[in-house]
Amino acid sequence: GTTLRTAAAEKGRYFGAAVATGKLSTSTYVNILNREFNSVVAENEMKWDATEPQQGRFSYSGGDRLVSHAQANGMSVRGHALLWHQQQPGWAQGLSGSALRNAAINHVTQVATYYRGKIYAWDVVNEAFADGGSGGRRDSNLQRTGNDWIEAAFRAARAADPGAKLCYNDYNTDGINAKSTGIYNMVRDFKSRGVPIDCVGFQSHLGTTLAGDYQANLQRFADLGVDVQITELDVMTGSNQANIFGAVTRACLAVTRCTGITVWGVRDCDSWRGSDNALLFDCNGNKKSAYDAVLNALNSG
Ligand code: G3I
Repeated sequence: GTTLRTAAAEKGRYFGAAVATGKLSTSTYVNILNREFNSVVAENEMKWDATEPQQGRFSYSGGDRLVSHAQANGMSVRGHALLWHQQQPGWAQGLSGSALRNAAINHVTQVATYYRGKIYAWDVVNEAFADGGSGGRRDSNLQRTGNDWIEAAFRAARAADPGAKLCYNDYNTDGINAKSTGIYNMVRDFKSRGVPIDCVGFQSHLGTTLAGDYQANLQRFADLGVDVQITELDVMTGSNQANIFGAVTRACLAVTRCTGITVWGVRDCDSWRGSDNALLFDCNGNKKSAYDAVLNALNSG
C-alpha cells in the first residue's frame, strides 16, 4: 500500500487518527486525514462533558459531525470514552454514591444507544487503574461508588449496543508491569465470570524508549480471548522516534488479535504533546521519517 490506510487494510488492520472536529474544515488537515486514515476517534467530542453537559440533556453535534465524516469517507469510528475520571461535566463531579452510579450507568446507556450500529469499538472505561506499583484501581469518584462500577458499565454498554466491541483503555501499560498486570487480572476475571469485554486499548503515549516486552504484553492479553488495539499512539521526538513508531507497528502486526492502530492526532501541531512533535506529519502536513517507518512496517512481512 502507498498510504497508511491501504497498507494496514492489506494486513487486515485499520489505521486511525484522533480528530478534533473543529479542524475538519482545514484543508491541509482533512486532506491528510482522508488520504491516510480509515478509522477515527473524537479527541474530545464524545466524552462525558461534551455529550451530557447538563444531567439528562444530551448533546451529540460534535460526535455526529465526526460520524458523518467517517461514513462519507469509508472510515470506522472508535468511541471515546463513556466513563472516565477526567472531563466529567461539573454536575457529575458534584455527585457521589448511588446518585453518581445511576447517572454514570444512564450516561453509558444513553450514549451507546444513540450511536448504536455506528461505533466499531467503545472505550467503555478509560484510565481506571492507578500508576505505580500497586496494580490496583485509581481513586476516583466513580471508584468510590463501588468496585463493581466497571463491570456495571460494560454490561450497560453491551445491552445498549450489542454490535460494538467493548474496550477497556489505559496508558503506561506498554509492557508487563504492575499496572498492566492489574488490568490483565481484571480482564481474566471478567472473562471467567461472563462480564462482556471484547478488547483492551493500549494508549501508547511513548517517550524515547519502548519496553522490550511491548509485544509480549499485547500477546498475553490476546491470549485471554480479547482483541487488542493501539489506541492513542504518539512518541517523543528525537533520534528514536521513527524506530519506536516502526516497532509498535510491527508488534501489532505480529499479534493476530491486534486489530488496528490509532495515532493521537494528525500533525505535530495538532498534538496535546505540543513541542514533543510526537506525530507522523509535521505542522505543514509533510510526512516525517516516522511516517515512512510505519508505512514500511505495514508493507513488510
Ligand atoms: O474547548 C475548550 C475551549 O472552549 C477553551 O477555550 C479551551 C481553553 O483551555 O479549552 C478547551 O477545552 C480543552 C479541550 O482539550 C479541547 O481543546 C481542554 O481545556 C483540554 O483539557 C482538553 O484536553 C484534552 C485532554 O484529553 C483532556 O484530558 C486533549 O485535547 C486530549 O488530547 C486529551 O486526550 C486524552 C485522552 O482522552 C485519554 N488519554 C490521554 C489523552 C491525552 O491527555
